[in-house]
Amino acid sequence: MKHDSFFIERAIELARKGFPRATPNPLVGCVLAKNGKAVAEGFHKTFGGHHAEIVALRKAGKEARGATAFINLEPCSYWGKTPPCVSALIKAGIRSVVAAMPDPNPKVRGRGLKSLQKAGISVRVGVLKEKALELNLPFWTQMTKNRPYIVLKTAMTLDGKTTDYQDKSQWITSRQSRKILWKTRSLFDAVLVGIKTVHKDNPELTSHGYGRNPARVVLDPRLTINPNARILNTKAARTIVVTSAKNDKKFEALSRKDVEILTVGATGASFDLKEIMRLLSIKSIQTLLVEGGSVTHGHFVQNSLADAILWFIAPKILGGAAAKSPVEGKGLALNNALAVKNITLLNQNPEQLFSLPLDGGQGLRPYLRPRSSAERGGGQGGGDIILRGSLREDGLKWPLLEI
Ligand SMILES: NC(=O)c1ccc[n+]([C@@H]2O[C@H](COP(=O)([O-])OP(=O)(O)OC[C@H]3O[C@@H](n4cnc5c(N)ncnc54)[C@H](OP(=O)(O)O)[C@@H]3O)[C@@H](O)[C@H]2O)c1
Repeated sequence: MKHDSFFIERAIELARKGFPRATPNPLVGCVLAKNGKAVAEGFHKTFGGHHAEIVALRKAGKEARGATAFINLEPCSYWGKTPPCVSALIKAGIRSVVAAMPDPNPKVRGRGLKSLQKAGISVRVGVLKEKALELNLPFWTQMTKNRPYIVLKTAMTLDGKTTDYQDKSQWITSRQSRKILWKTRSLFDAVLVGIKTVHKDNPELTSHGYGRNPARVVLDPRLTINPNARILNTKAARTIVVTSAKNDKKFEALSRKDVEILTVGATGASFDLKEIMRLLSIKSIQTLLVEGGSVTHGHFVQNSLADAILWFIAPKILGGAAAKSPVEGKGLALNNALAVKNITLLNQNPEQLFSLPLDGGQGLRPYLRPRSSAERGGGQGGGDIILRGSLREDGLKWPLLEI
């Protein structure tokens, strides 16, 4: 009991090391301890590889007998790519198990803990549950909602414009911010845009060498994508075009470029976005960065399909009634507005003397502190403000989305 939080904290720390190679499996770490001292540790390193418990049990050998296993997730009770961890823990003579949270996977959901108890192993669950849940928010979202963990990203001016009145938007924010975005992309399994963004900006949607390249998803109901679009001709990453059009000739041309086509139904002009999210989740896409434009964001917001926001705000004013804002579509009534919680403000304005951290959970609580030398040197973001916040009711945020 005394050491529960300490060892679970360590298990969470170990689990993080499995990112991103363990995905779409959950990130799991395990500490085996006896008399308050760790005897072995392990984490799930790669998808298809040994689970954290097995790694720790192998390291511990005979020392595992009589030990307590501290794990950030309930051990699995079924044969997947590897044998069930529960059986291995029982066989090794583990005395008790402390798990941070139950496994949301419908194949497990409490069965692992029950099997352990049946074998006479004492079980405690719920230690540092919120922290453990935060780390595995994408896995939890996929298991309980059949969709990826979705982050809406936009780049806008201080007056909330994502394009100018001429519909030109490229490079609203600074080069430093774009580098942060490229790095951020590498954290995601996929990046999604609407077809008009492809027509207008012709983006590559890669991480530009800042890490792994996410898959690229384009919502293109009428299949108007230009075969010369960069996204179709940079082989750097998997590309998925979602459409409801039936155009065999174009399907063939896209298949020759190794583009995956996802054909889905549409109601009027609008896709069944929930169904698309389900299909992407089946394709092992557990994290999705939605980069807009405004019409696409509008569909996601209208369907309540968003878990977090990442807002890049350039200290500029564009004005203009025709200039777009980040979220279009019908919009929400004020009493239905999406509440952004637990806001982190990354204010990197070299002109400013003080930082203002905002605590979204407990209201606005600004305090002033002198800027660090890194901040005085301009820091990241090149004068842009970067906001990160949770759209979940509990305000939890995926900690790996650290920028
Ligand atoms: N500042 C920024 O962060 C940022 C980011 C991205 C884009 N932009 C700018 O925004 C502009 C483009 O944005 P936009 O709002 O006009 O267009 P968009 O969101 O890029 O694309 C909208 C189109 O995508 C299709 N689409 C998206 N969601 C759909 C759904 N749920 N169901 C069916 N179809 C769906 C539709 O295609 P159809 O038209 O074929 O029906 C729709 O008209 C460009 O100027 C771009 O440069 C700015």
